[in-house]
Amino acid sequence: MARARAALPNAHAPYSDFRVAAAVLDDQGRVHLGVNVENASYGLTNCAERVAIGVAVAAGAKRILAVGVTAAKLKPITPCGACRQVIREFADADAPVASDGLDGRIVVTTAGELLPGAFLSLTQPD
Ligand code: THU
Repeated sequence: MARARAALPNAHAPYSDFRVAAAVLDDQGRVHLGVNVENASYGLTNCAERVAIGVAVAAGAKRILAVGVTAAKLKPITPCGACRQVIREFADADAPVASDGLDGRIVVTTAGELLPGAFLSLTQPD
């Protein structure tokens, strides 16, 4: 969470003014960061979680063990639907997903709780 909070000023969110940062812990014990990256063509926006996971994969991560998300809002935010699916591609159902609020309270859920029934074709029997 601390690493995500430190990255928050790097968010590119001039259209929504809603800054988000994410940190993911990989299977080698490394933390990778992401921020939301918006675009003048709004639909091209990338969420912080998916940016962080892309950075992790580019660095050679195979699995994600934990996710932290912050938006420096009063209440903790939760990953959007698309990010939930992408998190489950790399994280087991019991992997913790943490999010903080401005009061410092951290809410922890799991990747599986966020997206029951995720589409996972790699585990699909033939
Ligand atoms: N956003 C994220 O980065 N992660 C989420 O899980 C929810 C939404 C971003 C996208 C957009 O730049 C801004 O927050 C407002 O929707």
